[in-house]
Amino acid sequence: MIDISGKTIVCGIIGDPVEHTVSPAMHNAAFAYAGLDYVYVPFQVKKEGLAEAIHGMGALNIRGLNVTIPHKVGVIPLLSELDFLAEYIGAVNTIVNHGGILKGYNTDGIGFIRSLLEEGVNPKDKNVVVVGAGGASRAITFTLVDKGASITILNRRSGMEKAVRLADEINNAFRRDVQALEFEDENLAKIMGKADILVNATSVGMIPNPEETPVESRWFRPGLLVYDIVYNPVETRLLREARQAGATTIDGLGMLVWQGAMAFEYWTGQKAPFGIMRDAASKALTIKNE
Ligand code: ATR
Repeated sequence: MIDISGKTIVCGIIGDPVEHTVSPAMHNAAFAYAGLDYVYVPFQVKKEGLAEAIHGMGALNIRGLNVTIPHKVGVIPLLSELDFLAEYIGAVNTIVNHGGILKGYNTDGIGFIRSLLEEGVNPKDKNVVVVGAGGASRAITFTLVDKGASITILNRRSGMEKAVRLADEINNAFRRDVQALEFEDENLAKIMGKADILVNATSVGMIPNPEETPVESRWFRPGLLVYDIVYNPVETRLLREARQAGATTIDGLGMLVWQGAMAFEYWTGQKAPFGIMRDAASKALTIKNE
């Protein structure tokens, strides 16, 4: 149990839903290990309550927040400042309260790349198919293109306008010809044969809907790497079917821990205890799923 005093510094996460987050377990373990008088708590914030929540962060002197589904893009106009990376990605997953100045950062994209490199995969010159066009996808696609990958964005029909806008923004920023395609067999047939990496950047397959999958298994083959940003369950249906088809897989735990480690460093000014955070996140996931 954490000792909370009158001096304890508060951090947390805002999202909807937040019941399944393991970020509190991960950050509180890191604070305890580092001997910091900090605590990390979950806040369920509905879309219509976002502005009040952000004003409340300033008023309550909350030191830092993580931002998750569905607020990563909507939070931007409510902040005082943006770090250059968050501005260029157009999504925020970490807020730091610098004496009343609320500054937005994005640690998702770097977290994603670090987790890939950790698995021995360099995205340079790879053909990557990214499913989804929300805040997580924005961070991943911008960072992948910056690291020299060629990407194609896939999205469902209702989100095509958003996907096309994202592709246009990337093309303008990097002078590329990134395409946004609708999720259809005809398009998958065109792109999956030459894909090196498939990334699920949606929440499809996450608990409470683990029976869902964003891409059918007939598109998988040995030689393809399938990366799922969903970490709960750790092995999603997408990853299980990819593994069964002989593809290589990477789960969402690495990205979760890397993005969290960088948020920890922004809030505390100290180096994050990465191993402690990974163990705490894994343990929390195991307990939740028992
Ligand atoms: P985040 O900020 O965490 O990325 P988000 O902005 O809500 O979350 O984006 C989630 C992405 O997953 C979106 O691309 C969304 O599709 P739309 O752009 O059409 O909204 C996609 N997504 C969510 N649920 C989905 C589902 N059941 N099937 C397919 N795509 C889905």
